[in-house]
Amino acid sequence: MKLLSILLLIIFCYCFVNIVYGIKQVHISLGTDETEMIVTWIKPNKHYYHSRFNASVYYGKSKTSLNQTVKAKSKYFKDGKTRYTTFRALMTKLKPGTKYYYRIKLDSKKSSLFKFKTMKNDENFLPRFAIYGDLGYRNAKSIPYLKKDVHKNLIDVIFHIGDFAYDLNSKHGRIGHKFMKLIEPIASKVPYMTCPGNHERHDNFSHYDSRFSMIGDRSQPIHSDPIHKRLNNHYHSMTIGPATIIMFSTEYYYYTKYGWQQIEHQYRWLEQELKLANENRQKHPWIIVMGHRPFYCVKVVDRSCDNQTMERKEIRQGIRMYEKGERQYGLEDLFFKYGVDIQFYGHEHFYARFFPIYKRKMYNGTKSNNPYDHPGAPIHITTGSAGSVKSHPVFHQSDDWVTKYLEDYGYTRLMFEDKYHIRLQQISINQHGKVMDEIEILKSTPEPHWMNVVHQ
Ligand SMILES: [Fe+2]
Repeated sequence: MKLLSILLLIIFCYCFVNIVYGIKQVHISLGTDETEMIVTWIKPNKHYYHSRFNASVYYGKSKTSLNQTVKAKSKYFKDGKTRYTTFRALMTKLKPGTKYYYRIKLDSKKSSLFKFKTMKNDENFLPRFAIYGDLGYRNAKSIPYLKKDVHKNLIDVIFHIGDFAYDLNSKHGRIGHKFMKLIEPIASKVPYMTCPGNHERHDNFSHYDSRFSMIGDRSQPIHSDPIHKRLNNHYHSMTIGPATIIMFSTEYYYYTKYGWQQIEHQYRWLEQELKLANENRQKHPWIIVMGHRPFYCVKVVDRSCDNQTMERKEIRQGIRMYEKGERQYGLEDLFFKYGVDIQFYGHEHFYARFFPIYKRKMYNGTKSNNPYDHPGAPIHITTGSAGSVKSHPVFHQSDDWVTKYLEDYGYTRLMFEDKYHIRLQQISINQHGKVMDEIEILKSTPEPHWMNVVHQ
C-alpha cells in the first residue's frame, strides 16, 4: 500500500512538472524557402543563470522516424518582472509539399508530437490563407473556427496582422504566455506569419520581437548568419505559390519616440522588394501587402485617423519629419506604382471591403460588372474582427468607399482558384462559420490592369 502511494506521488509529481514546466507555446513560421521551417517556443524562467539549456528539434517524414535533428538557439528575454527564454530552431533540407512530424527535446523533457506540411514550390500550387488582425486571449472568438479549418486542411498559412493577446506584455508576460498556448494547436501545424500592431508597442515592441520569428532576408539570404540575426519581425517578404507577400509595420509612423530612421529604412526596403517582386512577376503574378492600420479609415474616434478626410495621412501620404516639412515616405503611391494588387489591414474591429481605390477615388473593374475583375486600382480589405477585447467601433462612411461592411467577429480566407484567380471569403463567427461575404478577384496578365495602362 505504501509502495503504491509512493508510486502515485511520483506519477503526480511527474505530471505536475510537465504541466507547469512542459514545452509549450510551440509555433512555426516560414524559413528562407519551401525547404525550411522555423520552430519557436518559450520557456518562462526567472533567472538567467538557469537558462543554459540543451534544446533540439527532431523531425522526419514518418511519426516513427524523426531522423533529422537541429539544435535550437536560445535567447534570454527580460523586461522588468517578465523573464523567459525564447528558443528557435531552423529545420532545413525539407522536401517541398511534404508532411513532416517534429518533436522538441529540452534537456530531459520531450514535447508532444507535432506535424506540418511544407509549401509546394511548383507553379501549380494554389495556396489557401487565413488572414486577420486583432485577436486577443480573453475574447478569442475565431480560434475554434480556425482550429476546425486547420484540422480539415483548409489553410496552408495564417497571417495575423497585428494586435496580439491584449497584450503580450500584460501581467508580466503571463497574458502573452496564455495567448501563445491558445494558438499552439493551429500555429504548431501551419506557419503563423505576423507583423506588429499598436498593442505591441510596449518597450519598443520587444515582447513581440521575442515571441515570433520572421525571416527578414528571404530575398537575399545570409545562410551563414545565425537564425536570430536574420529575423525582422517588423517587415519581411515571402513568395508562396502565385503570390509575393510583404508584411510591414504601420507602427513606425506612430511611435517615432523609438526613432525616425526606421521609417526610411522600411520604405527603401519596401521599394527594393517591390522591384524584385515585379521582376519575378511571371512566376508570382500577385503582390499582396499586409500591415496593421488601414490607409483609409471608416472608424470614428481613432487618434491616427483624420476625421475630416477619413484617412491615415502619415502612412498614406507620408509623414512630416520636421514641422512644416514635406510629407515623406507615403505608401499609397509606392504601392500603386509597383502594382500591389491587394492590401490587408486590421486595427478597426470589423470587416470592410473597399472598392478598388487610389488617391481617395474609387475604380471599377475593367472587364465586367465585378469591380474586382481586372480592377483599376488596388483592393483594400480591413479585417480586424478576429476577437478583440473592445466592442466594435462606430462605423462611419462619408464617401461610399466600402461596399461591404460586417460587424460580426470573423476572419478572411484567401484561396487561389488558379494562377490568375483569387476567391476571398469573410467567415462570420456570429453565424457559426458561415461565409458572409465572397468576391472573386481576377486578372489575366502578371501586372495589374493599371500598370499595363500606364505602360501603353
Ligand atoms: Fe490596433
